[in-house]
This record gives sequence, structure tokens and C-alpha cells, in this order.
Amino acid sequence: MESFSVLPPEARRLEGKVALITGGASGVGASTARLFYKHGAKVVIADMQDELGHSVCKELNPQSTTFVHCDVTKETDVENAVNHAVSMYGKLDIMYNNAGIGGENKYNILENTQADFEQVMRVNLVGPFLGTKHAARVMIPARKGSIINTVSVSSIMGGLAPPAYTSSKTAVIGLMKNTAVELGRFGIRVNCVSPYVILTPLAKDFVRQYEEGTLNLYSNLKGEVLKPEGVAEAALFLGSDDSKYVSGHNLVIDGGFSIVNQGFCMYPQ
Ligand SMILES: NC(=O)c1ccc[n+]([C@@H]2O[C@H](COP(=O)([O-])OP(=O)(O)OC[C@H]3O[C@@H](n4cnc5c(N)ncnc54)[C@H](O)[C@@H]3O)[C@@H](O)[C@H]2O)c1
Repeated sequence: MESFSVLPPEARRLEGKVALITGGASGVGASTARLFYKHGAKVVIADMQDELGHSVCKELNPQSTTFVHCDVTKETDVENAVNHAVSMYGKLDIMYNNAGIGGENKYNILENTQADFEQVMRVNLVGPFLGTKHAARVMIPARKGSIINTVSVSSIMGGLAPPAYTSSKTAVIGLMKNTAVELGRFGIRVNCVSPYVILTPLAKDFVRQYEEGTLNLYSNLKGEVLKPEGVAEAALFLGSDDSKYVSGHNLVIDGGFSIVNQGFCMYPQ
């Protein structure tokens, strides 16, 4: 069993920072909460799964991690989550807009209803919009901050997911670029991470080939399988001062999956 104690001071990359992670009760978000905590951050987990969220906080340290119920599609919930971070820990340094859903497992556009489409857009696009807006509200006066969004390889490639998912993730890139320009004037960085498929509850809902051995078939990089911890490490980089001149970037974490056309590739796969 992995230990979640805080690293020695010299190894901590987020010492003194306060982070809010949406979708922090499960998968990538929970893994990031653990890693940020290890690196000395105070962490607020914002999610709709109250029991799971509380259990992640309990596993860590109740002094340094708290849970707040939050539906990212509701502005009052997001506003409250940001205010909670500030009232608990005095400020907000890192906003990680990570909550997301896959939506209905319908690849045929004719089968997709307007309600299916709008539901995914609300969580995956309106959620990061609200998170960015309310984080900016408290980061602008501080003249610093790092905003991170979890998007997906679907933000740069078509055909990997149902239409609403691809549309929502691609649209967050636009949101990220625009806000990186606008908020850069205040010392605030805005970036995205774009993972390949990871075995989390979300992927199991809508990815057909989710058996561990088969997932890696399409990535060039052999001998590794992407896990939530791999995305958490990228978020740690973007949240920490190690990336202090990185803004407006979409950090793709896909083992080289998106750089090759499998149909044309001259190398044995
Ligand atoms: N798993 C993958 O293959 C994969 C690949 C690329 C990108 N992503 C993205 O990674 C992010 C995290 O997903 P995950 O794979 O860890 O899945 P997950 O299902 O383990 O975690 C998603 C979390 O988001 C929360 N959530 C969903 N709707 C919410 C809402 N309205 N308000 C607040 N919280 C809400 C869920 O309760 C859950 O805790 C998502 O944005 C997802 O699109 C996942």
C-alpha cells in the first residue's frame, strides 16, 4: 500500500500552495489530490460524490485536505468551492478543472439527442468555464495562479469518442487559449493536459476496449500503461513553479499515440 505522507521539505514542489481540484473524488482527480498533498499543498476536493471525496481526504490529512460538494455545472456551487478554498486556507494558487463525463456511449450522430449533447457540454465545457472564471476572480488580485484543465487526446483528434465529448474537449482548448492571453497580464498561467485512455470509471463507461493489455496497442511507447498517476505528475508540473513560463499549452500525455497514422506507419507496431 502506497504511503501518502508528505515528502521532506526539500522535495516538496507545492509547499505553501493551495489547490482546488474538481472531480477530485475519483480517478485522475483523486490521484492528483494525493500527489499535491505529498508535495506540501493544501487541497480542496470538489465533487458530487460526497462519500468518495470525504474518504480521499480522510486517507490524507484532515488539516490539509477538505471536501466540498460541488456540481461544476452550477455557478453557485463553483463559486462556493472557490470561496471555501480561500476561507479555509487564505488563497487559491492552483485551480484544476478536471471533472468530466463521457456521456452516452453513442457514436452515431443520428442517435445523439440534443439533451445528450448539452449534458456533456455542461459538465466538460461550462464546468471549466465556471472554474476558470471564479479562480480568476480570486487570482487576479493576487497577481498569480495556475489554472489547469483536463481535456483529452480527443481535443486534437477526431473519431475517438462520441461527438459531444470530442466537441467539449476541443472547445476547452479555445477557452484555455483565450484565458491564457487575458489572464497572463495578471501573472496567471492557463494550460491543459490531454491524456490518452486511462482505466477509470469514466473510461469504462464509454471505451469499448478497456482491458488493460489491449489499451496500449495503439500507443507507440511500449512497456508503459497510462494510469491516473501519470496525469497527476503532469498536473504537478503545471501547478508548480517548475513550469513558471509555460502558459497556453496543451500537454499531451499519450505515449506518441496522436503523432502517427497507424494506417500509413512504416514501422512495425
Ligand atoms: N479516463 C480516460 O480515459 C480519460 C482520457 C482523457 C481525458 N479524461 C478526462 O479526465 C478527467 C477525469 O476523469 P477520470 O478518467 O478520472 O474519470 P472518473 O470518473 O474517475 O472521475 C471523474 C470525476 O468527475 C466527477 N464529476 C462528474 N460530473 C461532475 C459534476 N457535474 N460536478 C462535479 N464533479 C463531477 C465524478 O464524480 C468523478 O469523481 C475528465 O475530464 C475526463 O474527461 C479521461
